[in-house]
Amino acid sequence: MRWAGSSSTPSLKGVKLVRTFGDGTTRRAALQVVDIDLFPGQLALLMGPSGSGKSTLLAVLSGLLQPDSGQVLADDDGTLRDVWALTDKEREQYRRKHAGFIFQGYNLFPALTARQQLEIVLKWGEGAGPAAAKTRADEMLDKLGLAKNRHKKPAQLSGGEKQRVAIGRALVKNPSFMFADEPTSALDWENGQKVIELLRDAAHQRGASVLCVSHDHRLLPFVDVYYHLDDGRLERRALPSE
Ligand SMILES: Nc1ncnc2c1ncn2[C@@H]1O[C@H](COP(=O)(O)OP(=O)(O)OP(=O)(O)O)[C@@H](O)[C@H]1O
Ligand SMILES: [Mg+2]
Repeated sequence: MRWAGSSSTPSLKGVKLVRTFGDGTTRRAALQVVDIDLFPGQLALLMGPSGSGKSTLLAVLSGLLQPDSGQVLADDDGTLRDVWALTDKEREQYRRKHAGFIFQGYNLFPALTARQQLEIVLKWGEGAGPAAAKTRADEMLDKLGLAKNRHKKPAQLSGGEKQRVAIGRALVKNPSFMFADEPTSALDWENGQKVIELLRDAAHQRGASVLCVSHDHRLLPFVDVYYHLDDGRLERRALPSE
């Protein structure tokens, strides 16, 4: 079922975003005046060469990295708020409540088992009780084909299994915004498809806005909109079906 609220009002707007790194002769613009609108119920794909600024854009939109200029306007229970005008504490609360992030390098806690990686998000982010957190963590691990791995720590998991735990951790709290940085890069096509379907469900069935970075053109038929970033400049491109 397509999410009924799929609408023409963006839930997240990046406005004239500029971000540079370094200074003097090493100064380099990772984002050069990027405008982007993300809509509820939409799965957007972001492609582009290595070093073109994809991870930088995700970090800026998700409130992790401050832009040099421009705004990130995010829907917070009906009001558009400038994420970078919030205090650090407010921004942290906003991120915890609304945003899920799958990092390019997994960012799992080495000392925790697969189940604990998910439980901690539910307990800490939502104040879920231990029994509810355990049930929801196990349901998500099941969906990702990780039921047998729930008691393993990252060092005991393969690259693809770690990647799926990181995906589960981002999805388990049902975020309004999902930022996924190459979530399928360590997976075979069958598992990659499962993951993109979960991201699509988050958008189409729950109304989340999902922005997914990938180099894999096979994902194009699964997505609603496709952006290309090249040298910090963003362009919307037509999908094969358009
Ligand atoms: N912390 C940093 N300090 C200095 N330069 C940085 C930093 N982070 C990113 N950059 C530079 O900004 C540019 C964009 O980097 P970014 O990580 O956003 O690229 P990307 O499109 O995600 O690449 P990849 O596909 O390899 O992950 C690159 O030239 C990179 O070297
Ligand atoms: Mg990157």
